[in-house]
Amino acid sequence: MNDRIYIEGGHQLKGSISIQGSKNAALPMMAASLLHEGVSVLKGCPRIADVFCMEEILRNLGAVTWWEDHDLYMDCTNATKWSVPFLFTGKMRSSVILLGALLARNGKGSLGYPGGCVIGKRPIDLHLLVLRNLGAVITEEEGILTAECSKMKGTVVSFPKKSVGATQQGILGAVLADGKTVLENCAREPEIVWLCRYLRSMGAKIHGDGTGKIKIHGVGRLNGGCMQVPPDRIVAGTYICAAAITRSRITLENFPDGELDSFLEVYRKMGGQYKGNSGKLIVDGENVQSPAPMLKTGAYPEFPTDLQSPVMAVLTTVKGRSCICENVFEDRFKAAQQMVKMGADIRIQGRKALVYGGKELHGTTVKAWELRGGAALILGGLAAGGVTILDGYSYVQRGYEHICQDLNMLGAAVKRMQE
Ligand code: EPZ
Repeated sequence: MNDRIYIEGGHQLKGSISIQGSKNAALPMMAASLLHEGVSVLKGCPRIADVFCMEEILRNLGAVTWWEDHDLYMDCTNATKWSVPFLFTGKMRSSVILLGALLARNGKGSLGYPGGCVIGKRPIDLHLLVLRNLGAVITEEEGILTAECSKMKGTVVSFPKKSVGATQQGILGAVLADGKTVLENCAREPEIVWLCRYLRSMGAKIHGDGTGKIKIHGVGRLNGGCMQVPPDRIVAGTYICAAAITRSRITLENFPDGELDSFLEVYRKMGGQYKGNSGKLIVDGENVQSPAPMLKTGAYPEFPTDLQSPVMAVLTTVKGRSCICENVFEDRFKAAQQMVKMGADIRIQGRKALVYGGKELHGTTVKAWELRGGAALILGGLAAGGVTILDGYSYVQRGYEHICQDLNMLGAAVKRMQE
């Protein structure tokens, strides 16, 4: 199957596009739906590869799922299986957060040990820490993790470091446990707040989400959930970078207000302008001209690691030296090497990438190795002279529902290569 797209550079963008539902909010909400023995609905759910993979896993566990446009229905009445084959966990490591939900639902759960991926080792020690503290006995044999606990018991867990997935794992494990659980040094990402909103709508008793300390009082059962998936803040940030790299003015509908403050601060310091509220943002990238002397990624509310590569693409087109420090993942500069093939001057020094911007980018064939790096290379193609061919477009499709269609609606020239 041809996995390439063409990007013809040099087009200004204009007009408006609507932001899709959030991948990183939808996935844990789907896992949470397992905790109700009936039908739950996620409205405005993105139709992307990772969601389809999670849907396949739920079906594999006995759930019945169906779509009505972008509304995903999950009937988990008979989702009584407790083992997730490696076929799925190898493909999508975020499926590890199912372990807590499987334990809470069935008293048992097993899944293939989720490997690391191209952006880093991505251990799951913090996931196992919180489940063990809740009473789970977890063994690993030939790459298969098996967790058992007839009924988890509330506890206090202080995470040694912030982890989005491990925080979600603890929440999913604790909502049906006996007694009170306190999670300390939690991650504060919006996706954690959305998971807790969804669980509260199902009857869970959770307080403190969005802060470093989350308190959960276990309940006996949960009702069906029905909630709108929030807009994807990383997709929104990617499109703001598209406006910035082409020095264009665009409008974003269904914008996730209040979830991109650190990113917008960097964008503004680069000369970017924006205005708007209540779900609509007008973005003006025409005056983007200043480098980022020191950009550090970190846990929310710091600058999001998922927008590190997209912003790097923009910085290659801005005269001057920028320095990006990737503090979250240990190997998230793969896209930089591909941007160098397009003519960018980027020098990697461990966790730091030094970008000497202002060099003309030229179209060539580049390779995506992971989701956000792939999106960044598409942005590079928008600004490059000539045609850029991106190989590995399927990585981008894991998180972006219609990035080609969206960019073309704004005046870009991006298309799938025919067989
Ligand atoms: C979530 O991954 C997101 N994925 C990632 O988005 C995002 O980059 C990341 O959070 C950080 O914001 C989903 O939500 C599905 P972490 P997650 O646990 O939960 C280390 C994308 O492009 N760590 O917060 O896996 C880990 O290695 C993806 O949409 C441990 O050491 O991230 C990393 O260095 C990419 N032990 C740091 O913590 C653990 O048990 C933060 O990882 C778990 C994590």
